[in-house]
Amino acid sequence: MPRFRLLEFKEIGDERGALVALESYKNIPIEVKRVYYIYDTPVDQERGFHAHIELKQVAVCLKGSVDILMDDGVFKETITLDHPSKGLVIDTMQWHVMSNFSSDCVLLVMANDEFKESDYIRDYAEFIYEVKNA
Ligand code: TYD
Repeated sequence: MPRFRLLEFKEIGDERGALVALESYKNIPIEVKRVYYIYDTPVDQERGFHAHIELKQVAVCLKGSVDILMDDGVFKETITLDHPSKGLVIDTMQWHVMSNFSSDCVLLVMANDEFKESDYIRDYAEFIYEVKNA
C-alpha cells in the first residue's frame, strides 16, 4: 500500500489536442472549495515546509515540472510532477516541500476548504510531535 497517492487522470485527446476533466469524488478524492496556483518560482526556490491538520489537497503540475518531497512523519518520498495528467494527493498531516521548479512550472492546487492559517503546522518538530502523539 503506497503511503502517498499519485493519481493518473484520463486524457481525452484527439487531433485538436489534450483535455483532462477533474470532478470531485469521481477522479479526485476531495470536494474542491479553493484553487490556487504557483508560478514564476525562481528555479532554486523551495516552498511548502508545512503540513495541514485538516486540509486535503490535490496538486497538478499544469506546465513544466516540480519535485514534491512528501513526509508523513515516518516515511519520505520525493514525487516528480511533470505532466498535467498526474495528480498528487496531499492528505492531512503530510509535511511537503516543493523544489526543483522548472522555470515554466505552473502548479495548480485544489483544496477542500478555504484558507486558514490555523490549519498549518509550520514547525517540523511540532509536526513530528503531533504524528507521534496522534
Ligand atoms: P503558503 O501556503 O505558505 O505557500 P507555500 O506552501 O507555497 O510555501 O502561502 C504563501 C502565502 O500565501 C501565505 O502568506 C498565505 C497566502 N495564501 C493565501 O492567502 N491563500 C491561499 O489559498 C494560500 C495557499 C496561501
